[in-house]
Amino acid sequence: MLSKEANERITRVGPGTPMGELMRRYWHPIAASVELQDNPVKKVRILGEDLVLYRDRSGNLGLIDEPCPHRRVSMEYGIPEQEGLRCPYHGWLFNHEGRCLEQPAEPWNSTFKDRITTKAYNAQELGGLVFAYLGPQPAPLLPRYDILVWENVVRHIGVVVIPCNWVQCMENSMDPVHTEYLHGRFMEYQWARRGWPVDSKPGVPFRHTRIGFDRFEHGLIKRRMVEGSSREDDLWGVGHPVIFPHILRRGAIDCNYAFQYRVPIDDTHTYHVSYEIYRPGIPIPPQESIPLYDIPWNDEQGNMNLQIVMIQDALAWVTQGSIAQRDKEHLAQTDAGVILYRQLLEEQLQRVERGEDPMEVYRNPAENQCIDLPQEGIRYGDRLRHPLAPKYRSAYFRGQEVNYSPIIGWIGDLFEEADRRAAGGDPLIPYTDQPDIPIVGDWHREVELRPTGQAATAGESAAELFPLSGRRSSST
Ligand code: FES
Ligand SMILES: [Fe+2]
Repeated sequence: MLSKEANERITRVGPGTPMGELMRRYWHPIAASVELQDNPVKKVRILGEDLVLYRDRSGNLGLIDEPCPHRRVSMEYGIPEQEGLRCPYHGWLFNHEGRCLEQPAEPWNSTFKDRITTKAYNAQELGGLVFAYLGPQPAPLLPRYDILVWENVVRHIGVVVIPCNWVQCMENSMDPVHTEYLHGRFMEYQWARRGWPVDSKPGVPFRHTRIGFDRFEHGLIKRRMVEGSSREDDLWGVGHPVIFPHILRRGAIDCNYAFQYRVPIDDTHTYHVSYEIYRPGIPIPPQESIPLYDIPWNDEQGNMNLQIVMIQDALAWVTQGSIAQRDKEHLAQTDAGVILYRQLLEEQLQRVERGEDPMEVYRNPAENQCIDLPQEGIRYGDRLRHPLAPKYRSAYFRGQEVNYSPIIGWIGDLFEEADRRAAGGDPLIPYTDQPDIPIVGDWHREVELRPTGQAATAGESAAELFPLSGRRSSST
């Protein structure tokens, strides 16, 4: 439980608010590069500010205030020029630094333009995303996280606007046990309602026996032990990281890695970016453009797509209200991760208030070549490839938002090609080794849920519920 004041402190992101100041120390994805191919100007709202992102005819990005400083017409309809964006109304031209370069309708000898500026922020591209930085200068480096920069991968980007505060999404990422129900029993229920075979669904309907949490260099890690697994298993030994402040590293199989960015549009809306990559293990030419797709809330009949893991999460986020009333909640033992995340937010808020850089801000290029992150499953090489083997592939995709990607068929083809090559004795490109995960500070928490080794209730074992997780746990 948080007081109303403490809740305001961690949720409000507008200019001048404590959390708004903290979030302005980070780069945030605001668009996919491919969007600017169709239309080089895009209106964006981030951290409560209305802005316009554009690519000028020299190929440079700009991110400026939406209203033109002259008479407040929207620069969303601006004309990209060789340098800068020109207002559609009277032609004032602004560059990416916010300087006014021209006022073509003013008297020829006017110097008024030299005294006019508009708000301007940094924008940079990486891995098919456009990122914005709205904080104080000098801007830190845009972090080069592994999946943004790896080669021989296929990428696609799914986006959806979530009508609630971003912290609700992040707290869910520190809550291991929800998977057992929301993506287990609830998902089965949803699949059964659609007449789909429940035993082929993706998801993680295992029985947790223990959950744990740690702080590491980049954020927090949640760990789980499930029926039949041990501390040596990746579910515990590697865990599932949250990269501070607002990225969940997702993917429990070794050929699929993902980020879920939860970017605050404002206090009550979140731009949710599912950035997914696949490594089938064969050479893949660089993609000319990385496709973008919308993750649909509803199916053709207008029903919420509750058969999809991400929309199930969205159900949990949104129905807590536009900003969850944390003064009315009743936290339980399994909310230990939620509590740690709030503590970390508060610690970092205080760092910014002291004038320091918060964590996960990069200023040294040598540390920003490729930031390798831990992920469950990578250690075992091919052993966990089978979730995307042909038998399971279509069901896996059907239960994930990626099913709506325009290239999902091609991704399936690449895995089939990899399967063929492997069957023919061709070595696949090896996976990256699991990076070391040094634990930081005294943040470790563990909660035992069931004595290890206790038999599951008949009909409730993971092996019975879900053949994939059953096979995984059977070897430990
Ligand atoms: S309103 Fe933009 S130039 Fe006049
Ligand atoms: Fe979830």
